[in-house]
Amino acid sequence: MKITGYWLASGVLGVTAASMGRVIESGADVVVTKSISLNPRQGHSGPVIATSHEGLINAVGLTNPGIDAFKEEMETLREQNIPVVLSIFGNSIEEIREVALKGVQLEPSAIELNLSCPHAEIGQIAHSPDLTHKYVAAVKDVVDCQVFAKLTPNASDVISVGKAAEDAGADAVVAINTLRGMKIDIYQMRPVLGNKVGGLSGPPIFPVAVRCVYDLSQALTIPIIGVGGVSTWEDAIEMHLAGASAIQIGTALIGGMNIFSKIKKGVAKYLDEMNISEISEIIGAAWRSIS
Ligand SMILES: Cc1cc2nc3c(=O)[nH]c(=O)nc-3n(C[C@H](O)[C@H](O)[C@H](O)COP(=O)(O)O)c2cc1C
Repeated sequence: MKITGYWLASGVLGVTAASMGRVIESGADVVVTKSISLNPRQGHSGPVIATSHEGLINAVGLTNPGIDAFKEEMETLREQNIPVVLSIFGNSIEEIREVALKGVQLEPSAIELNLSCPHAEIGQIAHSPDLTHKYVAAVKDVVDCQVFAKLTPNASDVISVGKAAEDAGADAVVAINTLRGMKIDIYQMRPVLGNKVGGLSGPPIFPVAVRCVYDLSQALTIPIIGVGGVSTWEDAIEMHLAGASAIQIGTALIGGMNIFSKIKKGVAKYLDEMNISEISEIIGAAWRSIS
């Protein structure tokens, strides 16, 4: 598939074909599903989400129906010709290989590997270049579609992890997943989330996402899919200038599904005003112009 345009990020409205269909109708180019595992998963006990500093902290805990039950949603999406990236995860290499094998039979446009959820066991994978290499290679070994590796800014060296994903055959990296964070109720004097710690998303993480995309885009040759806090067309342009070929949007959907059309309109106007004919001309321009 072509890695361009504005996509729905994993975990936000990505569980049913109906909600993903609505996101496409409102202007998204591609939808990424909620991360799906081999077996159904209940997730963490509530509260699972809280607002913080114009963003969200969630510890949903990767609740999902499991890959077998997800077949029906994927079939509906395929019947409607909706470009869909299947996000998957596994607690071991054997498990992710098995989910990938079942997943590829559902004919997604690509598979995204969630190696980086900060409030689940799998969060540790993308901290390690070695583990990342093993997980990506295991999936590439058994599928013939494109595979994207989703990285975390919580890793001490995101560039090495990105390079490991590229060496293992990843077709793109997705940067970034949420940042580990927490919120404390000052009257109850205890953490708000059932899981205590969660993942911060939305506007507060945008500068961190830009830094990761900027660094990865210089270090890797595969495309970077930028995600994290994008909520305006100006953010989208900044993310492209840092090096993102495509952009995913999650938390900003809280403000309405028309976010995709608003961003596309703003980007088109900017390109016109700046006399730039293609978005591809500005991808990575922020570092190309000074290196
Ligand atoms: C409620 C919620 C659930 C999420 N679930 C997933 C998930 O299942 N898999 C995944 O890879 N990322 C998940 N994410 C992370 C998003 O895909 C995205 O990487 C992150 O929120 C940053 O983008 P945003 O600021 O545009 O939301 C979730 C985010 C939120 C807010």
